[in-house]
Amino acid sequence: MSKILITSALPYINGVPHLGHMVGCLLPSDVYARFMRMMGNEVLYICGNDEHGTASEVGALKENMPVQEYCDKYHARHAQTYADFNLSFDYFGRTSSEQNKEITYHIFEQLDKNGFIEERTMKQVYSVDDGMFLADRYITGTCPHCGYEKARGDQCENCTKVLEPTELINARSTISGSTNLEVRETKHLFLNLPKIENTLTEWLKTKEAFWPDVAYSIAKKWLKEGLQPRCITRDLKWGFPVNKPGYEDKVFYVWFDAPIGYIGITKQWSDEKPNERNWKDWWLNAKDIRYVEFMGKDNVPYHSITFPATLLGTKEEWTKVDFLKGFSYLTFEGGKFSKSEHRGVFAEDAVKEFPADYWRYWLMANAPEASDSSFTFESFVGTINKDLNGVLGNFVQRVMKMTASKL
Ligand code: MF3
Ligand code: ZN
Repeated sequence: MSKILITSALPYINGVPHLGHMVGCLLPSDVYARFMRMMGNEVLYICGNDEHGTASEVGALKENMPVQEYCDKYHARHAQTYADFNLSFDYFGRTSSEQNKEITYHIFEQLDKNGFIEERTMKQVYSVDDGMFLADRYITGTCPHCGYEKARGDQCENCTKVLEPTELINARSTISGSTNLEVRETKHLFLNLPKIENTLTEWLKTKEAFWPDVAYSIAKKWLKEGLQPRCITRDLKWGFPVNKPGYEDKVFYVWFDAPIGYIGITKQWSDEKPNERNWKDWWLNAKDIRYVEFMGKDNVPYHSITFPATLLGTKEEWTKVDFLKGFSYLTFEGGKFSKSEHRGVFAEDAVKEFPADYWRYWLMANAPEASDSSFTFESFVGTINKDLNGVLGNFVQRVMKMTASKL
């Protein structure tokens, strides 16, 4: 019997999950957890919501409620949906929890103590009317290259050119529409990845024989291109206030505390029954753990580079991923899922129409592994009728009938 720690990438709290989210990490991790339990292993299967960042602030603003309330509302909705899909998490937690804050602070302090944190001053767009610095993608304006009027501060969707927000013509805040914007200087903290690069490279080499090629090659590519220091703080209100003098009015960047959330959420789980459970048995100086992560392929760089580097930089013995499974994308009738355009099947509606097992079966049978796959209603109907009804249903029916006739 082995001890197997399993995590699924933590879904963003804003918005409701669609079939693409289900198949990209949630469902495969559940199938794996169930299988490993059946084989007699001791499994700890952890997931939760990723709650920080501008997207939550903007979502709350749109629904006209405090961010905390907004997150509580959507957290409940996510939890219910996953329960309806029969996902067998041992705990579904939150990255905004006190437990996660405590561990995030600890990890940051270690990184700082070990000399991996550096200060930098940078210029950023400040919206006077919104009273906040704007993330690049929350600035809209006219593209200087193609004249598209709704270009975002980080990239023009129309001509795909990468932009600096200051290049936009008639720049305005996406949040309020205000054009009262200023460029201001602001101080931020950076994780000095180049300083950790050697240790990371050594660690990654030990994974080559074990990780699926897709994941390993993404990590290798990032290393080859050379690592840059990464900004880990933001000028936002929603998030964990930075625990360093002079930075109290800033919060940690969502991607800093989100993966630490796997640990924080495990602590939430263990705090519920402190006499029986100990999160450290799974995460700190835990030699006998096999740790398997599931995620969409866009998440691979964070989980193969940034998060392991963060843990290595503490110079403590944190459990790091042993097997990293990345999935490609599921499309909907050949196009993208889109909530705003009402395209796609959303998980909470799906289970109202058909039993969860229909969806679970189709999604696993068509999981986008080597390349993207497409959900179509035609394929869904065909697969359920043929595989589940025809093949499996028939098989069970015949066995039952024969057994009954021999009684
Ligand atoms: N919320 C991210 C996404 O949906 C995934 C975060 S995974 C974490 O893409 F581990 F960092 F939380
Ligand atoms: Zn353009």
